[in-house]
Amino acid sequence: MGIENSALDGSPGEDPPPSRAHRFTVSVRCSLNIKQSVNQHSRPPHTLNDILAQLEEWPRTRFVREPTPLLEAPNLAATLGRAPADILLKMDAESGFGLGGNKARKLEFELSPPRLEDVTCVITCGGPQSNHSRLTAAAAARLGLRCVIVVNGEPATPHTGNAYLHRLFGAEIRTVQSREERDPTMEEVAAEIDADGGKAIVIPLGASTPLGSLGYVRAAAEISRQWSDRTHAGTTWIFVSASSCGTYAGLALGFTLLEASDVRLVGVSPDVNESEIIEETARLIRGAADLLGTEVSTPPNLMIPTEAYVGQGYGLRSPEADEATTLLARTEGVVLDPVYTAKTAAAMLDWCRSGRVPHGDRVVLWHTGGYPTAVI
Ligand SMILES: Cc1ncc(COP(=O)(O)O)c(C=O)c1O
Repeated sequence: MGIENSALDGSPGEDPPPSRAHRFTVSVRCSLNIKQSVNQHSRPPHTLNDILAQLEEWPRTRFVREPTPLLEAPNLAATLGRAPADILLKMDAESGFGLGGNKARKLEFELSPPRLEDVTCVITCGGPQSNHSRLTAAAAARLGLRCVIVVNGEPATPHTGNAYLHRLFGAEIRTVQSREERDPTMEEVAAEIDADGGKAIVIPLGASTPLGSLGYVRAAAEISRQWSDRTHAGTTWIFVSASSCGTYAGLALGFTLLEASDVRLVGVSPDVNESEIIEETARLIRGAADLLGTEVSTPPNLMIPTEAYVGQGYGLRSPEADEATTLLARTEGVVLDPVYTAKTAAAMLDWCRSGRVPHGDRVVLWHTGGYPTAVI
């Protein structure tokens, strides 16, 4: 199996980047499909349609009610001096499963039927208010499997938000004191289950694996179908949260495969710095492209990661994020979460107001969920 070439290019694209956001390119050439081997030195024999068809046939467990809504936000657009159809909301928060959110698309692949053969328990990890752990627990409940969540830190009592939902969905909680203890503890729990005659599947943090990222390759195709009947001449700027980066990587690979040269993906960090986004996204794109047996070179102007909206840190409110939350609520009746989507929306508003997103271009805020933490 070969990633024959891999390069990151931090050089700016055609537009000058803002001070703390830059573009990068991932080039990856892979020559082994999990379904068919090809000569290591030849071009893989795939067309775009072959790749998309292969993705559609890939085993997965359906959790998401597709397509998730793509809503116009005309009142928000008016406050930004934009045309009504130029500000869109892609509502993965409304996936119809476990109170919504982006992790369900990744879990469809991570918890596919072949991977669940003989499995008795799903193990994952996260913080006390993890959205990912909530959806993993909901998925395990639907599949009739035991679920153990390794949680770093104690939630406040009484349990609210995701901490409440983890327990409502029937997950068992193993508490550790630090993030570093999560992975070894998940392995310990898996070994215990094995020793008891069961079989565990371990889902890494955020389900951000190459396999999980395929969920967002499909999502890129999904939104492309949704906007195919809306004529639009300019560039489309998608603002999406990038933390463990599976969402960002999947979309980047998807739009690369779709040759969507008119799309820009602004990856807004709630915690990590830009170089971490670049490194992790590149790793996931390489891995996911490898699974699909294809070769890609992401366009230099596709991905624009930014850490400029983190504020005081992960999970801490910022004035810009609070303003975005109030504005979305009062113009569109849409609820943002304070940790991820509020900061992503803050970036979107700033880029629209400052003119970095030119008038006439289209904007999508990809709403990745987090409802339970919006109301605690
Ligand atoms: C609501 C929400 N949005 C966005 C993200 C970030 O997604 P990713 O980890 O794929 O970068 C998360 C991750 O936990 C999340 O819970």
